Amino acid sequence: MQSRRNFLQHLGLGLSLPGLAAFTLPQSTFIPSFPSEDLDEESYWKELKKQFPLGNSPTYLNTGTFGPAPYSVLNAMADSNLLINSSGEYGNSDQERILLASFFGIKPTEFSITHNTTEGINIMAWGIPLKAGDEVILTTHEHAGNALPWLNRAKYDGIVLRTFEPKFTQEENLNEIQKLINSKTKAIAVPHVTCTTGLVLPIAEICKVAKSKGILTAIDGAHGAGTFDLDLYALGCDFYAGCFHKWMCGPSGTAFLYVKEESLERLTPIMIGGHSDTGWDMTTDPPTLAGYVPSARRFDYGTQSKTLAVGMVAAANFHAQIGKKKIETRLRELNQHLFDGLEELTATLDLLTPRETASRISLLSFRPKTSTYQACGAALGKAGFRIRQVPEGGVNAIRVSAHLYTTKEELDAFLAALRQILT
Ligand SMILES: Cc1ncc(COP(=O)(O)O)c(C=O)c1O
Repeated sequence: MQSRRNFLQHLGLGLSLPGLAAFTLPQSTFIPSFPSEDLDEESYWKELKKQFPLGNSPTYLNTGTFGPAPYSVLNAMADSNLLINSSGEYGNSDQERILLASFFGIKPTEFSITHNTTEGINIMAWGIPLKAGDEVILTTHEHAGNALPWLNRAKYDGIVLRTFEPKFTQEENLNEIQKLINSKTKAIAVPHVTCTTGLVLPIAEICKVAKSKGILTAIDGAHGAGTFDLDLYALGCDFYAGCFHKWMCGPSGTAFLYVKEESLERLTPIMIGGHSDTGWDMTTDPPTLAGYVPSARRFDYGTQSKTLAVGMVAAANFHAQIGKKKIETRLRELNQHLFDGLEELTATLDLLTPRETASRISLLSFRPKTSTYQACGAALGKAGFRIRQVPEGGVNAIRVSAHLYTTKEELDAFLAALRQILT
């Protein structure tokens, strides 16, 4: 019975079933105003934290993997789910597409709704026209979600993946990419923020160089939405795969692919279905496909989850209510707080995230000197902190993510625990 109740709570369903105590989520979303006379900045974020079901233990420092959703998102999904299943009107997500596109300041026709970043990356990796010998630039620090789709394309089609080891400044990283560009380079498929050390790559500058040479840019934006006050037009990329289940605090299994209007026809829609087309007929001889809708909608075919799309909009509203710029500023502040604290521990650890502020935003990684990263990770877990261990790219580090529900007190407690573990 307990597990069934947990399951319903997980779904956010305020249902009363026979034998089950009624469970209702808090209904209102109170976003405190700031600045205000009776709320200093730290108190503002503490108040905001109450909008999340997160308890105080463990201290959650792993938004880079998954960002818990606030009650407003859980409630919106519960309401939508109930409505859909009581009416049988399963709906479509076009209404939400309009709202979500407007959150990012782009056109609805440039916004495809996907299920995770990896799906968007697969659409890019298979959709960019490439032949054997064509080159694509990536880093050696890729997450499986950006590495595997491109490795798979290389395996099937003989394209060549050229990689560089990320450096510590935006200028150096731009140089690394420029050094790899040659006449065979057809795409640059780097992350906006690496999963390993939280390095921010200079995407706008990279895209500028790429555009001048006719190279397509397919950005892994897993950590871009909900961290930066993201301006996709200013970045200037052709394609950008982001997600809602990390820093956007949206429903798990929600994401998007931005396809720049002028680049739509440069991405072959490999997988299509209902709503991708402008007409088809199986009774003609041969059967015919008229064409594709003139929109990124062509990439998210078939039945989509209205409930998840409603949850995405609720997450976007939550961010918009606080303010995207304010969130970015807070994240940078928490990042600096943690960076300063980790710098005091450099006798016992190597700080792997760059010092340059433009090259970091939301994630910080370090490699313990006095123990293995696995032992340090396990000890931090025992001490009540949820972090991520990073084996990717041979980095062998501990990664810490602080988000809008993280307080400076929690970061100080983390630093104190870490000091004890490493000395
Ligand atoms: C940089 C990066 N790219 C891609 C992914 C894959 O994201 P998703 O699970 O949304 O497919 C992740 C996940 O952590 C990531 O950190």
